[in-house]
Amino acid sequence: MKIIDLRSDTVTKPTEEMMKAIQGAELGDDVYDEDPTVNRLQDLAAERVGKEASLFVTSGTQANLVSQLALTRRGQEVILEKDCHIYYYEVGGISAIAGLVPKPIEGTRGYLEPEKIKKELREKNIHYSPTGLICLENTHNRAGGAIITPKQMEEVYDLAKSYDLPLYLDGARIFNAAVALNTRVSNFKCDAMMFCLSKGLSAPIGSMICGDHEFIERAKKFRKMLGGGMRQAGIMAACGIVALEKMIDRLADDHANAKILAEELNAIGGIGVNVDNVQTNMIYFDVGGLGFNSDNFLAEMKKSGVLFSKREGSIVRAVTHRGIKREDVMTAVEMIRQNKD
Ligand SMILES: Cc1ncc(COP(=O)(O)O)c(C=O)c1O
Repeated sequence: MKIIDLRSDTVTKPTEEMMKAIQGAELGDDVYDEDPTVNRLQDLAAERVGKEASLFVTSGTQANLVSQLALTRRGQEVILEKDCHIYYYEVGGISAIAGLVPKPIEGTRGYLEPEKIKKELREKNIHYSPTGLICLENTHNRAGGAIITPKQMEEVYDLAKSYDLPLYLDGARIFNAAVALNTRVSNFKCDAMMFCLSKGLSAPIGSMICGDHEFIERAKKFRKMLGGGMRQAGIMAACGIVALEKMIDRLADDHANAKILAEELNAIGGIGVNVDNVQTNMIYFDVGGLGFNSDNFLAEMKKSGVLFSKREGSIVRAVTHRGIKREDVMTAVEMIRQNKD
């Protein structure tokens, strides 16, 4: 049975070109800054996002943790959206390891309006843990791959600057946002950011932290502290170079497939989906009207070889990626129709 895996874009396997790049990669000890392939990837990533420098790390979670450590001091408060990945899915590392106090705020489809942030900034007071950082996530995963526009980011950036605070971007899927809006990542203003190579860009492993030289130097120290100093990491960085050179433009196909999937789901009576909210490669939909909760819907669909991710109650997530072709979208929809009847 063919498996149609719509759980996440993280399931993408490396391309043939990536496998060849691994074999041909020039290697060295990256802890000594001597891996030429890692160095090339870091230069390329910095250039692609318009920052001074970048650092290769093992995962998006490590990128976020290292960045928080590098941008703050223990005991500070961090303003973030209440459903963001850092707060929701990163095992509390923000507190348990970085020693920070998260201040979660409810956003609007992942966006935190400056007025909302402003209300939460701490005044100078002996009792308070001072605000040390503002974080945004773009695209926003739990908001259904929603995009925060460059203009919206600039508004938050300007607010952050007026309070002398750094703005950090969890841009795990920022290239999806850039491709969807036909703009450059450098137009999403922030002081520091990360993006993932291992999601829609199809590399097997790795994320890039990007920012100015001083931030990257601090980040490198924290990466080492967390055990993320890798040696011949060029083996993995080689795939990252292919990801950045070849895999960005094709994200538009994933977005087109996501839109079609949303439209087709909408045409099935009983499924709740907001087609207009599908801006990139994610679709959240409600199967309650079909008499399922997400657990039994996932179990039924698995029997037909179609995999989704579970969310709360009767909400299900689908993510399109390189492994999903137009015909897979149509097959998945057909399987749902059959299970409904
Ligand atoms: C928005 C966002 N940030 C960070 C991460 C963490 O990435 P990783 O799974 O590589 O740790 C994810 C993973 O899905 C994500 O969606």
